[in-house]
Amino acid sequence: MRVLITGAGGQIGRELVIALYRRGDQILATDIQPLNYSGIQTATLDVTNSQAMWEVLMDWRPQEVFHLAAYLSARSESNPYESWQVNFTATWHLFEACLEAGVQRVFWPSSIAAFGPHTPRAQTPQYTVMDPIGIYGIAKLAGERLAEYFYLRRGLDVRSIRFPGIVGPAHLPMGGTTDFAVHMFYDALQKGTYTCYLKPHTRLPMLYIEDAIRAILELMAAPPEALSIRGAYNIQGMSFSPAELEAEIQKRIPHFRCVYEPDFRQALAESWPETLDDSIARKDWGWKPQYDLYALCEAMWKALPLYT
Ligand SMILES: NC(=O)c1ccc[n+]([C@@H]2O[C@H](COP(=O)([O-])OP(=O)(O)OC[C@H]3O[C@@H](n4cnc5c(N)ncnc54)[C@H](O)[C@@H]3O)[C@@H](O)[C@H]2O)c1
Repeated sequence: MRVLITGAGGQIGRELVIALYRRGDQILATDIQPLNYSGIQTATLDVTNSQAMWEVLMDWRPQEVFHLAAYLSARSESNPYESWQVNFTATWHLFEACLEAGVQRVFWPSSIAAFGPHTPRAQTPQYTVMDPIGIYGIAKLAGERLAEYFYLRRGLDVRSIRFPGIVGPAHLPMGGTTDFAVHMFYDALQKGTYTCYLKPHTRLPMLYIEDAIRAILELMAAPPEALSIRGAYNIQGMSFSPAELEAEIQKRIPHFRCVYEPDFRQALAESWPETLDDSIARKDWGWKPQYDLYALCEAMWKALPLYT
């Protein structure tokens, strides 16, 4: 498979590049920042430059595109206009260029940030009230509608997942609202203490990075006729609060303590689901998570010494 990835230097991109390389794909990994992947072709690409993006697509002629370039939720609140250009306008231009370049399938991730304060927080249904309060979530909700529109009106095979917070050992995420989960592990090992920007009992849905990558590959491999959703699928892995993760970490590092100093991200987190109903993803393409909180912690303790 010939593939193109945008935002390939980010938390998901780095792991996806490795998974696609193992699958034997011919990869062009792009990002606005320089990439350093040995044995993989890379290019610098700013997705807000629609002409440059078009040229890359026409030149590389990928069969599959994984569009991961984005500003995450917290970074978006500091730069709302730029965030809209990256998260929504560039996605529109990418979909257009994919049609012209004859791309077979596109993966573009949505987020639980597309939900809002009037969304039911427990077992959030696939179809429900969606009134996001952050500009990141507003762009994700608009992007979901755009993805379905391009599928229905233009025949572009776009596939998407509403990702919850993603936790993995290899990358210290920056700019999101669920970053605390990775930061807590790093600070537990390096400092023995962590200052958390959310209140202790704010429960959020989370996914271990290996489950996230597997979800992308499984959704992309599904036969098109099996997919009943062309906006974005709910998926659920596990849910935990900062206090629950702190307690889990204390089982390994008993002296570890968190200090709680909530900031603007608290309002975003409180407007997002605690758990999601992912029954349609399970039925349509066989989604099933493999990591719960215990398995996530075991995997993090095993891998973190390589990165900290
Ligand atoms: N990580 C999560 O918890 C999470 C949760 C829900 C959804 N998502 C979505 O998954 C996708 C990937 O997220 P991630 O966690 O890897 O994010 P990330 O912030 O780690 O990576 C995003 C990448 O996009 C690049 N980028 C930013 N502006 C760009 C531009 N103008 N042109 C090209 N590249 C640009 C950045 O350099 C970065 O490498 C995003 O769409 C994000 O909204 C992530």
